[in-house]
Formats: sequence, C-alpha cells, structure tokens
Amino acid sequence: METTATTPQTMPRIGDPAPAFTAKTTQGDISFPDHFKGSWVILFSHPADFTPVCTSEFMTFASMEDEFARYNTKLVGLSVDGLYSHIAWLRTIQERMVYRDLKNVEVKFPLIDDVSMNIARQYGMIMPGEASTQAVRAVFVIDPKGTIRTIIYYPLSLGRDFDELLRVVKALQTADKFAVATPADWVPGERVIVPTAGSCGVAKERMSGAEEGVECVDWFFCTKELSADEVEQGITQH
Ligand code: BEZ
Repeated sequence: METTATTPQTMPRIGDPAPAFTAKTTQGDISFPDHFKGSWVILFSHPADFTPVCTSEFMTFASMEDEFARYNTKLVGLSVDGLYSHIAWLRTIQERMVYRDLKNVEVKFPLIDDVSMNIARQYGMIMPGEASTQAVRAVFVIDPKGTIRTIIYYPLSLGRDFDELLRVVKALQTADKFAVATPADWVPGERVIVPTAGSCGVAKERMSGAEEGVECVDWFFCTKELSADEVEQGITQH
C-alpha cells in the first residue's frame, strides 16, 4: 500500500525497542542502536543543513556534549541531507558561525546521512502535514538497553530547548535509580514523588507520617526529599 499524507504511519512508541538500522555518519558507519549499547542516546532529527534554526540548535547541542556525557548520554543527529552536505555545514559552523556567546563550535557527535529518508520514515520523523521532504525536529531518548524512553516533536520553525532535554535525561535516570517519579518542572534537589502505596496499610502508615521522610498531601500524592547531591552521585559517571 502506498503511503500518503492521510495514511496513518507506524512509528515507534515509548517503551518500544529503538528500531535498528545501519547508517553512514560524519563519524563513520554505525549500527544503531547496538553501537551505543550501555549508553543513553539522544537520536534527534533536523529539517536541513545550512538553515538558521538548525545551525543554532547544533551549536547549542554541541556546546553541551560534555555535560550530556556526564550523564552517560551520547548525541546522534540525522537529516535527509547527504554526508558531503553535513561535512560542509559542520565545517561552516566551526569556521564562521556565531550564536549567542558560542563560536568555533566543533560538532563531534555523529550526524547521519539519510538521503533515502528510510530512517526518518522508520522513526516517524516525516510529518507530511508539516513537510514531506524534510524531517521535523524529533527527539528520541533511548536508554542503555535500547528502549525508547521519551519522544518529543517540534515543528520546523521552533528551535528546541536543550536544557529541557538535559532535564529529561536527569529525570529519567533519577526515576530509574531511585524508583521515584518526578513532578511538574522538577529539577534535581526538589522533592520527588513516591509511588502510590500498593496496599491500604502502607497508605495509612504513610498518611500518618510513619514512613521516614515521606510526606503525603493525600493517599495518592506522597513526596520525599532527594537532595541534588544524592541525584548527582546516583546518576553521573564517576
Ligand atoms: C531552520 O532551521 O531555520 C529551518 C529549517 C526548515 C524550515 C524552516 C526553518
């Protein structure tokens, strides 16, 4: 069956294994996600090389690469441009581009050549209502076992918030490490959500304040302190 703008496309979902592919990149050939097993990965697409919003995004993301590495997270870009375009664009970024206080920015993470659009289609990065020949700004956060943990999409005109992506990584890793959830706008150092009690007895104990450090507003809303230091100790690379 031919795929049209109105045909629903299958796309990976949160909790699915990251679809596998092999690709040419600016850092050599990769076999995804095996190449990154053991690390968190942010696979992200951009619409086109040599465009301004994408340029500001690459400069920002590249300048934060070491910060993401502290949280065992690797970055992998993708667009439907070819390798020579990627190489020329990244060279231009390093040699000529200035954005905020960033200049001479070297993009060291791999940028995938997807001229066939096969990978972009496989990952649901092509949204024909927005653009049928370019990928939207998609973000897939993938854990060390190769499972998709977060998916975020932005349209062509809207540059991403990379501090938010770092917050997402920290929150996912904190949830895994400490078996908690993170409330709205959470940043490390703020109280975390304790999972809802599985039994009436535990809920009553919590509500009465008997569980060390746990405070409940109601039976379904209990939080506890988790210091920024504990979070850092628990989730950074030592
Ligand atoms: C940009 O990165 O500036 C851009 C790319 C595609 C469409 C619109 C803007």
